[in-house]
Amino acid sequence: MIFSNSQQGLTTTKAPFIELARQEGRLFICQPYELYSPDNQEAWRQLFKILLPCWEKFANDKFLDGIKKLQFQPARIPRLEEVNQFLAPMTGFQAKGVSGYITPFLFFDCLKRREFPTTITIRDTQSLSYLPEPDIFHDIAGHVPMHTDKTFADVLAKFGSLAHIAAERHRGVKDTYEREAKISSNIQALSRFFWFTVEFGLMRQNGKLCAYGSGLLSSAGELEHSVKSLKVQRASFQLEWIINQSFKIDHFQPLLFVIESFEQLYEEVNRLEEWLIKGKLDHVVPGGPQVDQEDLKAFLLNKEN
Ligand SMILES: [Fe+2]
Repeated sequence: MIFSNSQQGLTTTKAPFIELARQEGRLFICQPYELYSPDNQEAWRQLFKILLPCWEKFANDKFLDGIKKLQFQPARIPRLEEVNQFLAPMTGFQAKGVSGYITPFLFFDCLKRREFPTTITIRDTQSLSYLPEPDIFHDIAGHVPMHTDKTFADVLAKFGSLAHIAAERHRGVKDTYEREAKISSNIQALSRFFWFTVEFGLMRQNGKLCAYGSGLLSSAGELEHSVKSLKVQRASFQLEWIINQSFKIDHFQPLLFVIESFEQLYEEVNRLEEWLIKGKLDHVVPGGPQVDQEDLKAFLLNKEN
């Protein structure tokens, strides 16, 4: 095996297996478990040890239930097929290995099919506290426990279905500029909704503030900061604000939105669908995240890449 002696194992941004998959255009990949190096396993061990007491203090109950139901081992990186054996019978969701970035259209389309695109690499032990790229700790320990909850899983699948509606809505628009501007605005609105809920959402539970967003749940520093810091503005969930609110990914989030329940979140995703259909997402305030030409093309062609 050409990869078996690699020192990098499956370390984020340094994994030859991933580079080859990307060169060959393979987006969906297996998890070659034997390639994880001792350092990779050590990164999982350390992260799990650091995060567990933080989850017990600041995570929502459904997440804590999910961690137990999925039977994660603190000492080793989970195998995706083991995770899926527990997960699929609960809500139909499955973690599906990917080789890196996929377009928003494909990402949303996967959610619609109850497949969660999952990074298989892991950050190295030198950068445990912050990594700009997603890794398996963020995706599996941060996201997947939430997918064991039926209402939350329904929110994700419903959200994923909106990509097709957005793509279809603009099919007949002849003016290229108008079509691209509207699709771009729709993608921004959907991405902002995802960011301020699935990635960085807070909720009130039994009168106490806790996190359900995976960006928070996979970062010990930001998890506590999100709930306790006076530097964070915490607003009640407001759809109109969220779809018009840009964000940056390279620092702790200064603004977070609080929901009261996952049933509320389900109502909000229904409202998002209504607004999309009525054209209320066609002219959101410009700003981040930027939508590049490849992302637009994938939406316009309504295809995978
Ligand atoms: Fe994420």
